[in-house]
Amino acid sequence: LHIIHIAAEMAPVAKVGGLGDVVTGLCKALQKRGHLVEIVLPKYDCMQYDRVVNMRALDVVVESYFDGRLFKNKIWVGTVEGLPVYFVEPLHPDKFFWRRQFYGEHDDFKRFSFFSRAALELLLQAGKKPDIIHCHDWQTAFVAPLYWDLYAPKGLNSARICFTCHNFEYQGTAPASALASCGLDVQQLNRPDRMQDNSSHDRVNPIKGAVVFSNIVTTVSPSYAQEVRTAEGGRGLHSTLNFHSKKFVGILNGIDTDAWNPATDTTLEVQYNANNLQGKAENKLALRRHLGLSSADTRQPLVGCITRLVPQKGVHLIRHAIYRTLELGGQFVLLGSSPVPHIQSEFEGIANQFQHHDHIRLILKYDESLSHSIYAASDMFIIPSIFEPCGLTQMIAMRYGSIPITRKTGGLNDSVFDVDDDTIPFQYRNGYTFLYPDEQGVNRALERAFSNYRNNPESWHQLVYKVMNMDWSWETSALQYEELYANSVARARSSAS
Ligand code: ADP
Ligand code: GLC
Repeated sequence: LHIIHIAAEMAPVAKVGGLGDVVTGLCKALQKRGHLVEIVLPKYDCMQYDRVVNMRALDVVVESYFDGRLFKNKIWVGTVEGLPVYFVEPLHPDKFFWRRQFYGEHDDFKRFSFFSRAALELLLQAGKKPDIIHCHDWQTAFVAPLYWDLYAPKGLNSARICFTCHNFEYQGTAPASALASCGLDVQQLNRPDRMQDNSSHDRVNPIKGAVVFSNIVTTVSPSYAQEVRTAEGGRGLHSTLNFHSKKFVGILNGIDTDAWNPATDTTLEVQYNANNLQGKAENKLALRRHLGLSSADTRQPLVGCITRLVPQKGVHLIRHAIYRTLELGGQFVLLGSSPVPHIQSEFEGIANQFQHHDHIRLILKYDESLSHSIYAASDMFIIPSIFEPCGLTQMIAMRYGSIPITRKTGGLNDSVFDVDDDTIPFQYRNGYTFLYPDEQGVNRALERAFSNYRNNPESWHQLVYKVMNMDWSWETSALQYEELYANSVARARSSAS
């Protein structure tokens, strides 16, 4: 199949969170299975250009419509992780992607609706005939209505549209009139069965539009797919998702097991594998030294946490876990940053409190290389999310031999199974889980983990060995996407003939 992903993130060049990891990981797995895979991204000023191979501008200039006129887009190509990528640079006076950050601008709706249209224009003008166009999250959700309303009639009509929602919390709603800028018909689309927001008659909802207009709609784990179909979990979209349930499915993400591999990871102090855990111990020592933590007790458990600090992640429970870990005699390392000012400053306060402490360290920034060191050094990894569409850090942690402590929700519920849960076959049990998002839940799970770590070193060692050998690669999930794509293409062909 010829598959084109249109996205706002792609690791490692433009990554904010898991979306970037998923676009790269899924595309690599699909390419490995023999498909022709291409990606279209905005050309951000803040990208990591050193991770793009052979970046060059094309001679062609793509003109795309916005606000009643045509704007030129410069098109760049390059290779990221072995994948061909087109970068769209709008020559628009608002300098949409020249903002020193990926998101969070006052005109994000404009920036990304512009990009969605320019990306489709690029495909049309380049004469592409993809079988699948796959878009992600609200930023590129506009692709679905734009494709059927404007581009299929113009001849870019070979494709089926797949849309993946990575988080229903972010819907990108805006006043209905804002849709007109990218050329969509406001009157046609601002209807309850189309893009109209379910809670406001004069607002449009890009995610809803993509759910309605795509051929395939996915989210990133089976449990989350169930949760968002309920009134409590659906953020106002449960009725839309239930109405379109035949095309809606949850597929658990994988991780890129080449990028996340302790046996070959050159950012680590020492590489290691499940048969050589001495290397893991050396990484723990190295991190403790690097961060100025005490390394007197080699059997003192180290708890890691790497996260965006947003309410979804259970920030109050993370804070609680730091103090409880201290009470239990462990060490805690948090790497995270927050787009929410009051959360960022609250954690800065805690970081200052523990600035010279022997057992606690908070590093409040985004740091890819340090994240690898923490996965490698930690014995346990805590994720007390209030909700979690999939979550990748539990899988990465396991790959590095760090035992997950997680709340049972969304993708965490589909990937972490409690060591003490007799209803689960032994070979799948891989962590410590709790159901209720409260301090008692965190306490119980941490205490059980600490007790096993301290009192049963042999059983802990076996657990580490087991989780490091679990398969979190994209292979199985990519197969599921491939099947969805192929079935959708086959249905289109049979109804056309
Ligand atoms: P989300 O996408 O909701 O943030 P995921 O668990 O899907 O959560 O993915 C998070 C990704 O971002 C992981 O690859 C994780 O290692 C990375 N990450 C999160 N915070 C940081 C940080 N402060 N520094 C480096 N990497 C981070
Ligand atoms: C979102 C979700 C996270 C998921 C990621 C990749 O950011 O919050 O749970 O793992 O997307 O799909």
